[in-house]
Amino acid sequence: MHSTTHTTSTSATPHDAVIHITALTKSFVNGPSTLRVLRGLDLTVRRGEWVAIIGASGSGKSTLLNILGLLNPPDSGRYVLDGVDTAGLDDDQLTALRNASLGFIFQRFNLLGRTSAADNVATPLLYSRISAREREQRSLAALASVGLADRTDHDPSMLSGGQMQRVAIARALVTEPAVLLADEPTGNLDEASGAEIMSLFHDLHERGRTIVMITHDLEVARAADRQLRLRDGVLYDAGPELAAAASALARS
Ligand SMILES: Nc1ncnc2c1ncn2[C@@H]1O[C@H](COP(=O)(O)OP(=O)(O)OP(=O)(O)O)[C@@H](O)[C@H]1O
Ligand SMILES: [Mg+2]
Repeated sequence: MHSTTHTTSTSATPHDAVIHITALTKSFVNGPSTLRVLRGLDLTVRRGEWVAIIGASGSGKSTLLNILGLLNPPDSGRYVLDGVDTAGLDDDQLTALRNASLGFIFQRFNLLGRTSAADNVATPLLYSRISAREREQRSLAALASVGLADRTDHDPSMLSGGQMQRVAIARALVTEPAVLLADEPTGNLDEASGAEIMSLFHDLHERGRTIVMITHDLEVARAADRQLRLRDGVLYDAGPELAAAASALARS
């Protein structure tokens, strides 16, 4: 029924892979019990691809995204990001790779309060050696690219949920990262704002962005090029399952 995406752990990184993960494991120890969340997971994401990851609550989606985002190390396995093998990098190197290669979008937006949209978007640039003037120019350009050119001075309390998420997306884009990582980006939005954010993701995808998106919304997942289900600590191709669900819906 389910075809696994397993490859052998000795496989070379495909030349167009921006994420290449093999045999990844991650467990959490709680007193006497060990929770094996990721159990030898493989994942290859090609440059420009949009991948959606679905899975039950507690299946390990955020755990996987934190590893993809270099926020948490795996217990074992290989993770090559944008051509760099992440094993053996020290904290400074991990931070540098994270800032250069990754943009994050969260369910709760995670914007700084009492801080203008423009300054929120510019924060990831504080780690790079660019002038305040260029930071501002890039921030305004990123806000314009998400349709918020007229909201640059607004702080989060003056923005709608959909607008806050667009600010967060601009912030994720401002460093021109190789990969956008999104954890339930429409999870806190009403239907209309969610649709707005999805159409923005469509635009980003068309402009060639690589996107890895976690969602529990099957409609949202369907918009991606490829759908994977995290279950029992590994990823399965969820395309057939989603197609079957869609045709069952069409018949009802
Ligand atoms: N730091 C931690 N210490 C101990 N257990 C953890 C830790 N982080 C996550 N877990 C456990 O690992 C499992 C996977 O958690 P994770 O947050 O990755 O799930 P998820 O798929 O993102 O769920 P949801 O859809 O509810 O967000 C859960 O059972 C969780 O309780
Ligand atoms: Mg989660």
